[in-house]
Amino acid sequence: MLNTEKPYVICHMLGSVDGRIKQNIWGFKDHHKYFEETAEKITADAWLVGRVTMQEFSSKNTYSIEADRTHIPKIDYVADQPVKSFAVVIDPSGKCFWDTNMVSTEHVIEVLTEKVPTGYLEHLRSKNVSYIFGGKEELDLDLVLKKLYHLFQIKTVRIDGGGHVNGSFLQAGLIDEFSLVLAPVADGAIGSPTVFEVAEGYENRKATQFKIKSVEQIYDDFLWIRYQVIKETDTNR
Ligand SMILES: NC(=O)c1ccc[n+]([C@@H]2O[C@H](COP(=O)([O-])OP(=O)(O)OC[C@H]3O[C@@H](n4cnc5c(N)ncnc54)[C@H](OP(=O)(O)O)[C@@H]3O)[C@@H](O)[C@H]2O)c1
Repeated sequence: MLNTEKPYVICHMLGSVDGRIKQNIWGFKDHHKYFEETAEKITADAWLVGRVTMQEFSSKNTYSIEADRTHIPKIDYVADQPVKSFAVVIDPSGKCFWDTNMVSTEHVIEVLTEKVPTGYLEHLRSKNVSYIFGGKEELDLDLVLKKLYHLFQIKTVRIDGGGHVNGSFLQAGLIDEFSLVLAPVADGAIGSPTVFEVAEGYENRKATQFKIKSVEQIYDDFLWIRYQVIKETDTNR
């Protein structure tokens, strides 16, 4: 039985004034720095991204998965490794492949469902990549956070996108802070992911409200806005 502690969660994003997050047409020379230099100022034990975003960092090689040759139980695997900072990917079907168990200076943790084939676990073990199970068919993100805390001592996690992973954690009420680097650009691409992708239409839900912690003007025309998430659902402002 897991304890109830879980990491403090800060979502950090670079967004256009219309909330888009793909920088394909933004036209900034060194577009990575706006995200990365601010991210570095947020102290965290791990960063976490969705499968689509992580595929920018995982292997570009083709790996073939052996049909379930060996029996590997579908239980969490904490690889023996020396580092204490982590790169976590929400990858329910096991689509990211790895040549190494590191992204930059961080040890990789795969968050899986039990849908993944045993051969994929064999691949992860062969690269000494850690993995945890967040559910049988669907992920329980609250459980995922608790496992990150207890198995890896992750006390603060920075969620770095994309929009779908941010939206999942937002919908589950698991984001404590939102850190937005607001780029001075209007994107306008209909259908391109936004900072929070939660659901089509409005359904029966309420938007999440924020309270400003700080605002800073950076790189001349950018704003770095840090918000606290208001957790109570029936705030009257
Ligand atoms: N501007 C910025 O600050 C910033 C930051 C990060 C990324 N980006 C950009 O954002 C784009 C990608 O964003 P995205 O929203 O398309 O993708 P994403 O959030 O990176 O990844 C989405 C995928 O993650 C998995 N996933 C996420 N939440 C899940 C949940 N609750 N349960 C099960 N699976 C879950 C699913 O994988 P499966 O499909 O395998 O099921 C889903 O398709 C890229 O272009 C990237 O460059 C921008």
